[in-house]
Amino acid sequence: MIQIPDRINNLTTYKAGKPIDELAREKGLNRIVKLASNENPLGPSPKAVEAIIKHAEFIHRYGDPNAFDAVTALSVKYKKPFNSIFIASGSDAILQYIIIALTNEGDYMLSSKGSFIGWYVNSDKLGRKSINLPLTSDYKIDLEAIKEKISPDIKLIYLANPNNPTGTYFTKAQFIDFMNAVPKNTVVILDEAYTLYAEACKDYPNGLNFDYENLLVLRTFSKSYGLAGLRMGFACGNPELITALKKARMPFEPNTLAAYAAIAALEDESFLEETVKLNNRSMTMFREAFNSLSMNYTETAANFFLIIFETPEKAKNFNQECLNKGLILRYVDYFGIPNGVRINSGTVEETEFAINIIKQVIEII
Ligand SMILES: Cc1ncc(COP(=O)(O)O)c(C=O)c1O
Repeated sequence: MIQIPDRINNLTTYKAGKPIDELAREKGLNRIVKLASNENPLGPSPKAVEAIIKHAEFIHRYGDPNAFDAVTALSVKYKKPFNSIFIASGSDAILQYIIIALTNEGDYMLSSKGSFIGWYVNSDKLGRKSINLPLTSDYKIDLEAIKEKISPDIKLIYLANPNNPTGTYFTKAQFIDFMNAVPKNTVVILDEAYTLYAEACKDYPNGLNFDYENLLVLRTFSKSYGLAGLRMGFACGNPELITALKKARMPFEPNTLAAYAAIAALEDESFLEETVKLNNRSMTMFREAFNSLSMNYTETAANFFLIIFETPEKAKNFNQECLNKGLILRYVDYFGIPNGVRINSGTVEETEFAINIIKQVIEII
């Protein structure tokens, strides 16, 4: 019999929020709203769509293996040296490349329980041991506890800021204090997937403003830029680390269309402004509804809420009953929060639809 290694056998296949078509087929529903994957409800940046159409006729060719145009665009935009930027097919893929390039099987890493599932999947898949410490009682990453666990055995530390699925963030002062405590040979991954939403918080530490030699900042085009289906993300940091990541990357990542769409989306200021404006509106509508229904949720700086229930059963039921009525949310047990359900912002109409369903479901669970 063929032996599959335990580290793969023990994994569960990635479970995303249910696809819309699948739910429509299963339940015979004619209206379905998906607020499960923190995507942009406005759709993609129109400039990105234009760029895709423009470059579509060249996809019979392999792309530029160094993605020169996209790296240059990021380098100019963020005023960072060309060789400090690494791009690949999404920040989830970048996490994998960081682990491959900077650690060996059996090495230890540090993070939080109740954080981004991609971190757990990548570390388990690659046979690394991530020590995941509990969040604080207010669902924040416990930087003090992580600091205390640092030892010469720890090769990487993963922090998502804002954190997914809680939406909570740590401040600039907390981040600086943390980095001062981390030895220079331990690399810190600062995953800023939701930075465009969090920037409104005055004390939010924009990672690209720091130049620590042991810091890698991760960004994605999947959220505010509306390009989740294309798969495009980048890392910025010490060129020595970036060179190591390039050696681990699959050739020709990201794909040609993703690279050109990202260049266009980066410059689409009006789309980004609309995105943040709509997010604020939808989040306010949800906040008011949750308050009026006396529901518990985390203080978030991102484009989603974590709704907290008294028990895992209640969270699971809530998620299932919403699904039965055509509202797809994300039950976050796999993230390490079995009593939580995540919901992201939508268009005004989607938000009204969701609130209406939530009101009905809260009555029956
Ligand atoms: C914190 C965090 N990092 C990374 C990702 C994945 O981004 P990408 O689509 O670029 O792989 C997500 C997506 O949910 C996320 O929440």
